[in-house]
Amino acid sequence: MIRAVIFDLDGVITETSRQHFQAWKAVAYMIGVEIDSTVNESLKGVSREESLKIILKYGGILDKYSKEEMEKLCFCKNEYYKQLISQFTPANVFEGVVEMFEYLRGKGIKIAIGSASHNAPALISAMALEPYIDYIVDPGDVKRGKPAPDIFLKAASALGVKPSECIGVEDAVAGVEAIKAAGMYAIGIGDAEVLKEADVVFGSIAEIDLGIIA
Ligand code: G6P
Ligand code: MG
Repeated sequence: MIRAVIFDLDGVITETSRQHFQAWKAVAYMIGVEIDSTVNESLKGVSREESLKIILKYGGILDKYSKEEMEKLCFCKNEYYKQLISQFTPANVFEGVVEMFEYLRGKGIKIAIGSASHNAPALISAMALEPYIDYIVDPGDVKRGKPAPDIFLKAASALGVKPSECIGVEDAVAGVEAIKAAGMYAIGIGDAEVLKEADVVFGSIAEIDLGIIA
């Protein structure tokens, strides 16, 4: 029996992947690295610090940056990102999300946000989704980021449900891996060729067949 659905935020509830990419592109450019959409795919679902490491590695300059310099670059990225999402409103919520939340509420199924983003609470609030959400995982509370299962397991334990009673919804390869590692059913949002490990893949939240949940 399904008792909770744990949603990733970026690229699932709203389109922030473009803003994350734009902010990283600017920071990467500052340090002489040019990143394309293939690199961006590997950044999805990955923490800010890990994302920077992927970019530095891609540019072949990982060993040139100290911890302090990396912290500064992460800070820069986040300041720019926050600017890019500062105008978010309920209009930024993907089609089908509110309908899905209402459906789950009606069935007594809990809703959590399992995102690696420290900006998730601010976005949920800006998009007026707070009334639907039972729990938002603080990525600072877990040891390992995605693809480790920690974020999804934390959501399940906070909601008092077993992993086998949860569905995870993700748009990132690392996220789908995390859901599967947590022992949950994985709904992928995006391209089935990319999200090979998901149990089922839909093009968007609006396309999810609600009957598969409950
Ligand atoms: C999500 C996004 C990633 C981002 C991460 C951390 O998982 O998909 O692109 O790096 O959150 O986000 P933050 O807002 O804390 O930098
Ligand atoms: Mg995502």
